[in-house]
Amino acid sequence: MKNTHPPPAWLKDAVFYQIYPQSFYDTNGDGIGDLPGIIAKLDYIQSLGVTALWLNPIFTSPFGDAGYDISDFYQVAPRYGTNRDLQRLCAEAHRRGMRVCLDLVAGHSSNQHPWFLASAKPEKNKYSDWYVWTDSAWTSETGAVRGCSERDGGYLPNFFCFQPALNYGHAKPDPKKKWQLPVTHPAVQAVRRELKNIMKFWLDLGADGFRVDMASSLVRGDADGAGLRELWRFYRQWLDRDYPEAVLISEWSNPRRAIGSGFDIDFMIHFNEPAYYKLLGTAWEAGGGVATQVFFDRQGRGDVAEFLSSYLRNFRATRGRGYISLPTGNHDFPRHSRGRAERDLRVIYAMLFTMPGVPFIYYGDEIGMKYLENLTSKEGSYQNRTGTRTPMQWDSARNAGFSTAPPAKLYLPVDGRAAAPTVARQERDPQSLLNLTRRLLVLRRRHPALGNTGDFRPVYAKKKSYPLVYERRLNGARCWVAVNPTNRPLQVTLPAVAGAEKLEALDADLTKRGTKTTLTMKPVSFGIWSVAGTRGSAH
Ligand code: NOJ
Ligand code: CA
Repeated sequence: MKNTHPPPAWLKDAVFYQIYPQSFYDTNGDGIGDLPGIIAKLDYIQSLGVTALWLNPIFTSPFGDAGYDISDFYQVAPRYGTNRDLQRLCAEAHRRGMRVCLDLVAGHSSNQHPWFLASAKPEKNKYSDWYVWTDSAWTSETGAVRGCSERDGGYLPNFFCFQPALNYGHAKPDPKKKWQLPVTHPAVQAVRRELKNIMKFWLDLGADGFRVDMASSLVRGDADGAGLRELWRFYRQWLDRDYPEAVLISEWSNPRRAIGSGFDIDFMIHFNEPAYYKLLGTAWEAGGGVATQVFFDRQGRGDVAEFLSSYLRNFRATRGRGYISLPTGNHDFPRHSRGRAERDLRVIYAMLFTMPGVPFIYYGDEIGMKYLENLTSKEGSYQNRTGTRTPMQWDSARNAGFSTAPPAKLYLPVDGRAAAPTVARQERDPQSLLNLTRRLLVLRRRHPALGNTGDFRPVYAKKKSYPLVYERRLNGARCWVAVNPTNRPLQVTLPAVAGAEKLEALDADLTKRGTKTTLTMKPVSFGIWSVAGTRGSAH
């Protein structure tokens, strides 16, 4: 499966920072983060080694799902600022050589959107078929929401009940269900064009691309994925022609399919391909419970082979045509700091920032922000998401410097523990997690073998065993990365190397005795080396 083009060149050394705008930095004291707040923090973000931003949705919305329920796709929500503020943010980022990607909620709108309000009317109108409606209120169709309008039918939601699915058609409509429209239907084609208009509007204003929400959910009745492929390639071809630098990042978690459909980056996260949750666990794969048997586990109960089989299958199928991202976290699952110590995060980041593909840092992960337990759900965040979305901790001022509002007015409570990490405190400490994050990203830039495009090969990866050692390689340059997430000291023999230069390590050593290389690791440790003259591998 060929992509229509190689990904834009700027992705070769891109590092993203994900901002949940309502919790980042509040400049007008209303308790909610805003676009001027992001502008004010651009220098900080750049100081991490970050080259691009992804902002969660910033558009007009009733905020039933934190902005993933849009009621005007062409307008920044007043609580974040104005379209001009966004234009200014893009210009300020560009001035620093950084890019800005927005969230494209392609699959649905809010049920308050004027298109849906018109669609829900019993009288036939321009928007009647813009959403997926059954032909009678008595039709029982799995998932259909019935009895919510005067229109005689039920609509299919894409996620929550107030997020009706926009109609991208059925790839193979069921002849017995006349309401399933083919992808060639004029209303479906109009929805397609509208999405293009939305993208064009923001690209013309200064955006550099989009993270596409639920990218795999658009076309229905599409078992083999041909309909989705056709849809996304339609957008990709248009972008290639008119906006060749624009990137498309998918929330799909199936890189082979996503990149084959024209996406430049796909996240491997908490659904579909098991690689990510076998590595880190996300509390979703066990139906909202907490996963056991993940690789990054002090008890050492994980199995790296399970991570690798899924990861390598996707890596080999997509290399050179697109990138896989294993993000530090995101707004949909608990921060990895939950149940872990800061030292564990160091080992996790040593791996995540030395893997192929495009790194994504979720705001606050660079200082090890905690997952705050037992908070009341906010804007549809519910279990496992709320504690991940709390205000950024900047300094020791009121509300950790996030906002001057009275604490009761904040979007979500701030981590108020005296020991809560802040940017200001970690700035002053060369050994802080923040400064480790910076050093790892510097290494990634200085040693392109560790970067986005370098090859990846396990050097020591045994079933149900630790540590994991892998090689990154580019144009003859090689680096080895070793991680030991367990609370056990480990020693293993690796293939011979002519030389090894330590680039960064936490209690790990490589020593050469004759033809043998010995890796010695203390509990919860990692090491990164530039190596010369290796042969073979110990799989
Ligand atoms: C995925 C988003 O990341 C999540 O936050 C949202 O609730 C759903 N899609 C629905 O848009
Ligand atoms: Ca504000």
